[in-house]
Amino acid sequence: MCGIVGYIGNRNVKDVVIGGLAKLEYRGYDSAGIATLDNDKVTVVKSVGRLTNLEKKLEANPVSGHLGIGHTRWATHGRPSDENAHPHQDCSGRFAIIHNGIIENYLSLREELQAKGHQFRSETDTEVVAHLIEELYNGDLLSTMVAVGKRITGAYALVVMTKDEPDTIIAMRKASPLIVGLGEGENFIASDIPAVLEYTRKVYVLDDGEMAVVRKDSVECYTLAGEPVTKEVLNVTWDAVAAERGGYAHFMLKEIHEQPKAIRDTLTGRIASDLSRVVLDEEVNWSRDFVKAIDRIHIVACGTSWHAGLVGKSVIEKLARIPVDVEIASEYRYRDPIQTDNTLIIVISQSGETADTLAALRDAKARGRRVLGITNVVGSSVAREADDVLITRAGPEIAVASTKAYTTQLVVLYLLAVYFGQERGLLGEDQVRDILAGLHDLPQAAEEVLDAAPQLEKFAEEWKDAHDTFFIGRGVDYFLSMEGALKLKEISYIHAEAYAAGELKHGTLALITDGVPVIALVTQTDLYEKTLSNIKEVKARDAFVLGVTFVGDEALRKSVDEVIYLPRTMPLLSPIVTVIPLQLLAYYAAVARGNDVDKPRNLAKSVTVE
Ligand code: F6R
Repeated sequence: MCGIVGYIGNRNVKDVVIGGLAKLEYRGYDSAGIATLDNDKVTVVKSVGRLTNLEKKLEANPVSGHLGIGHTRWATHGRPSDENAHPHQDCSGRFAIIHNGIIENYLSLREELQAKGHQFRSETDTEVVAHLIEELYNGDLLSTMVAVGKRITGAYALVVMTKDEPDTIIAMRKASPLIVGLGEGENFIASDIPAVLEYTRKVYVLDDGEMAVVRKDSVECYTLAGEPVTKEVLNVTWDAVAAERGGYAHFMLKEIHEQPKAIRDTLTGRIASDLSRVVLDEEVNWSRDFVKAIDRIHIVACGTSWHAGLVGKSVIEKLARIPVDVEIASEYRYRDPIQTDNTLIIVISQSGETADTLAALRDAKARGRRVLGITNVVGSSVAREADDVLITRAGPEIAVASTKAYTTQLVVLYLLAVYFGQERGLLGEDQVRDILAGLHDLPQAAEEVLDAAPQLEKFAEEWKDAHDTFFIGRGVDYFLSMEGALKLKEISYIHAEAYAAGELKHGTLALITDGVPVIALVTQTDLYEKTLSNIKEVKARDAFVLGVTFVGDEALRKSVDEVIYLPRTMPLLSPIVTVIPLQLLAYYAAVARGNDVDKPRNLAKSVTVE
């Protein structure tokens, strides 16, 4: 994520930039920084931690000027620290840049620039851009940035300033959001509208592949190739609080809709461009011999992260043939688990601070095991204490109910399963390519499934007074049922249970009576007929069945009361898409019941007690 602000005009630049960053702190908050241009000099002040740390530093080292840029960071490359905080600079200190996104080819660029004598100060992917600008600068920042755009790959919202052009800030966008706020004798840049609402309600929303040359009295927009484009002014009518949620009614809904981007970000740079292999070598420090020797895996987590682990078990066992146990952290740590010397421990935690998960991590390390952490927060305890770390790049998750963290955990687990399979020589080239092509298409599928929102809203409205709900499925659909039931319980407060579809008749079927809602997940082709039989069992007891299946499945429509169609994906990868209607269902049920969706009763976002 990361928050970006830029300002040019006659106000106090520090106040505008810091005030804007405060409105964007929900986008990331592990470090912050500001660069201003004053008296022909670029001054940079930055600090690890929340924005208040930067403000304290600025009291001791005041900055001024008519032009400035600022950033709050959500670390992806390089731990949270003063050095890794933005803005970053070139060797001469003439340029300052801020960035949101991931520069995929930063390693090769860094080597190239180092060979030319550039000195790097941080571990970030961003710093290469500052040095690249220095290398390519031709006296004209706009054409220099066009040249820079041709050299960098990945996702970025970039903002750059230089003492050589003291009346100009350039902003450019590829796959990361960026807006320009339009004022009178002043202009603003931000990654999101709330940062500028205090000053203006007129904005340009930069589209993908566009850049803006922002001066005090003018804003010119161009394509990344430098062709001029004409933009329409958007007049913002949201109030400030709604704007922070990007116009969505709740953070949870916003985060559900952010999933296509979060999935794409989590895949970025981890799949070879020819889809031949998963590339994790920069992130995990494992030899092929180590991977080959792993004889079992214990995945340890809580709640939604535990549910992600259950899907991970299916995929790792299928693709890499390593036996996997998935354990609830609060149980695992107290039961003297059997680990071999070659057991790999994987802990999954969005926050990276869940007390039981952390305790399990520490216990495993004390027993001499190697621990892989999968977390969304770079500077978290899990990220710091695990031997190896894979970061989910969902960006900050504000709503208590986890959504985009779950789907990105699944993405990482899929990548890991393919990685193990390829390193252990179990997957053929075609098989790897098919799965990676499927993963590559998931953001688009996630986008499409969001279109089911109105249907789910209507269903939730009709069914909001239900006392009990059952989610059923087989294979990974069973694990998805568990996640669907948890989501519904925690925000709508409707009692919900998940069952392996074949297990109902061993007791729970007694609870199925006239009109009881049953959500039946039917995405596993090899288990289709069996699940259909289980649906018939509940229909025979007059349940109201909402089926979830792939588009084109007309047979299911005849057997259930209502159907949600998913875009086709490989059945193996379907969980990432299947979960989205379940999240929406829970969300709309909670809204229909008038609940506090983002802060459900009795719950907290980060569970740091045992
Ligand atoms: C449910 C939810 C929780 C968390 C659990 C673990 O929506 O968010 O079940 O998944 O508290 O939290 P992390 O992943 O931060 O360890």
